[in-house]
Amino acid sequence: MSEPLPLPPPGDLAIQPLFPVALGQLQLRPDPLDLALQLQALHELRGEASSNPDPGCAWTGDLNGVWQLQKHPVFAGLIAELLVHVRHYLQQLGFDLSQVALHVQRCWPVLSEADQVVGRHHHPNAHLSAVYYLSGDGSGDCGCLRFWPQRQLNELVPGMAVGHGGPLAATPWSASFVDLAPRAGLLVLFPSCLDHAVLPNVSSEELRASISLDLVLTAAAQLEQPAEYLAPHPSQWHAV
Ligand SMILES: [Fe+2]
Repeated sequence: MSEPLPLPPPGDLAIQPLFPVALGQLQLRPDPLDLALQLQALHELRGEASSNPDPGCAWTGDLNGVWQLQKHPVFAGLIAELLVHVRHYLQQLGFDLSQVALHVQRCWPVLSEADQVVGRHHHPNAHLSAVYYLSGDGSGDCGCLRFWPQRQLNELVPGMAVGHGGPLAATPWSASFVDLAPRAGLLVLFPSCLDHAVLPNVSSEELRASISLDLVLTAAAQLEQPAEYLAPHPSQWHAV
């Protein structure tokens, strides 16, 4: 049986967060030479294109045939390193890694030039999403990653958290979004169902470069009886 919430101490009203979204962040220290080689490879993969194709939209590899970076010689080592941290994230969420298999479904670059964005979306095809930044100084100038909550329960009155002169100030309890500033070497992990977008790149010269990963969980291959709701391992699927 789980423990009930602890009782508050006598005195002031206590508010505590319930059901937090597990946003994972890890700052890695990329080797400058590796980083330069990776950026050069991404420029080559993008080729002549510079948008998606709307000039205001960042170029994304998933729409341009570049969606298996985990197999690319320049990126395979990096992706393998990132997946070690992904497994730590899953363990912290409570997953028993002996019973689940983790799959890279897609892995693609996103290159955002001046003023380019990626509109609000989520990844219904995946379970866990990851982003690794190859650029950014932590200021957010090259375009923050913005997250929205699935439901805004604390606004109490639907629509209040949007603002527009309404009677609800933005506080940590009522914020309608949170922004994350990219920094080279930063790994970010979040549930794939969480809505997100990339804000405009307003830095004067910096190309915003990142790698996205969509990950899927299934039952481990050796399990004869997968847990309810968990898909069997793909090796046990039957194509028709
Ligand atoms: Fe995304």
